[in-house]
Amino acid sequence: MLARSRLWLGVVAVGWTAGALALSPPAGAQDEEEKPYSITDGKVDQATYNGWRRYHASCHTCHGPDGLGSSYAPNLVDSLKTISYDEFAEVVINGRQNVNTGQQSVMPAFGEVMDVATYLDDIYAYLEARADGALGRGRPQKQ
Ligand code: HEC
Repeated sequence: MLARSRLWLGVVAVGWTAGALALSPPAGAQDEEEKPYSITDGKVDQATYNGWRRYHASCHTCHGPDGLGSSYAPNLVDSLKTISYDEFAEVVINGRQNVNTGQQSVMPAFGEVMDVATYLDDIYAYLEARADGALGRGRPQKQ
């Protein structure tokens, strides 16, 4: 249990570094910014494809097919345009509960769900590709 939570702290720390680096290039250098996914001739890398699979196994029931949101949970294609990797990792691992609105909304914690936690970066890569407009709806083609 302790070892596992240390592991996740490590994941968040690495994500934090990656997020800080991603913020550093000036606007003009954006094309050279490293993306978490790679798409060649409309085909995605293995990690991004796996992210699509994992997303549709664990997240789409609330966040809708292709990340487009539902009446219950936010559109993640929009969310990932603004939130950083570490914010993403924090919410997915620890969950979040919004008790301020009349209607209670709960994002479950996935830190102990190995099918999600192990593949967090893949899910992130898939959603980033969707947020960047680099990947359309539906099942992506593999490279
Ligand atoms: C049981 C329904 C449910 C499932 C399953 C679920 N979520 Fe959520 N998620 C929510 C709700 C509801 C919120 C909004 C919480 C709030 O109001 O703060 C949310 C919020 C989020 C946010 C923050 C969005 C933002 O704009 O701040 C991220 C990122 C996220 N979820 C990712 C995921 C991922 C990735 C998965 C699959 C591993 C997943 N969620 C599975 C219900 C769910």
